[in-house]
Amino acid sequence: MTTPVVLTERINRIEPSSTMAAAAEAEKLRQQGVDVVDVTAGEPHFTTPQHVKDAAIAAINGNFSKYTAVGGTLELKDAISKRHGTDFGSAYKREEICASVGGKHALFNVISVLVDHGDEVILPVPYWVSFKDMVRYVGGKCVLLEADEAQGFRITAGSIARLITPKTKLIILNSPSNPSGAVMSPSDMTEVIRLAHERGIWVISDECYVYLNYTGKNFSVGSLTEYRDRFLVVGSLSKTYAMTGWRLGYTLGPAAVISAVQKLQSQSTSNPTSIVQKAAIAALNSSQQCVDDMRKEYIQLRDHIVTGLRAIPGVKCTMPEGAFYAYPNVSGFFGKSGIKSSADIANGLLHRAHVATVAGEGFGTTQHVRISYATTMQNLDKALERMRKYFEEL
Ligand SMILES: Cc1ncc(COP(=O)(O)O)c(C=O)c1O
Repeated sequence: MTTPVVLTERINRIEPSSTMAAAAEAEKLRQQGVDVVDVTAGEPHFTTPQHVKDAAIAAINGNFSKYTAVGGTLELKDAISKRHGTDFGSAYKREEICASVGGKHALFNVISVLVDHGDEVILPVPYWVSFKDMVRYVGGKCVLLEADEAQGFRITAGSIARLITPKTKLIILNSPSNPSGAVMSPSDMTEVIRLAHERGIWVISDECYVYLNYTGKNFSVGSLTEYRDRFLVVGSLSKTYAMTGWRLGYTLGPAAVISAVQKLQSQSTSNPTSIVQKAAIAALNSSQQCVDDMRKEYIQLRDHIVTGLRAIPGVKCTMPEGAFYAYPNVSGFFGKSGIKSSADIANGLLHRAHVATVAGEGFGTTQHVRISYATTMQNLDKALERMRKYFEEL
């Protein structure tokens, strides 16, 4: 007889990441020999730039293999500060920066130190899958704000203000957004930051896709120095430099919060990998041409997938202004062939058309599927052709 495993109430509150589950499902089919076109990936199809790899190799050969300071070396903190200051006009000091094991880790840390049991967290929908579960894990309550699809999933300070209660502790912003690709205008973001500051509410601005903004108006809330005691910026090298597996992200914010984040990190992972820190310094301090080149290719891929999706009768697709996801609305097919939700569509696409997408449910909407266009044009064409056929036959 096996002993039942009793887990904590807090771990039972959360679910596995739906994007990772979708990718695993696609992999299972692939193992059975099925030719699956996988557009679930939340990561660049590019390889890490050579100069970044060279810096890591030099770090290994130079035996840079000991523990470092918990929140990263001073050299790394300076590189993060300089890059952010140059690009966005911010001015973060060393004690206002903590490097972590990816942006996800940075977010987990910040949410853990800011959100207490019963606190409310305003979360725009659609949201990146992990926000909800991180908030729930620490005992917080998500208060969902439906972004208006007809207005490109816009979120405004006015719509947030309506959800504020005495229990509101935190607002989470993510621009450019995963999954919708929506980009908040600098003025909308400033208004939200100003509102939060006025009401004594924290803001986390997840800017993991900040360099993949196709509006021509790159913006970080980090530039709003007059409100800086109320917000944190979370950044990541994952998407910017095609370094998802390397795991390097960071938090920028008030020294007291950063100190708490470092305390937590000192009791969990300690420093992000020493070698990766050296690679990150090379990425941040060198020419940013590689970022620009990737950005240009994403724009072409985006235009291609959106044009292709819009050409499929019944599919509606808002133009994403950043990141590398299209978030088409497929509710036009509900009621056909027993389809009730986007989960049914994602399931049909995978098993009948052999195209792996992620259902909108994981992002808090029931009418969409997420398609990552961080792949080749050929793959996108293959996905589009199969999708067109699948939808036609419904
Ligand atoms: C919105 C958003 N934030 C944070 C992350 C975390 O990225 P990483 O942990 O690789 O830095 C992701 C990754 O998919 C993301 O999409």
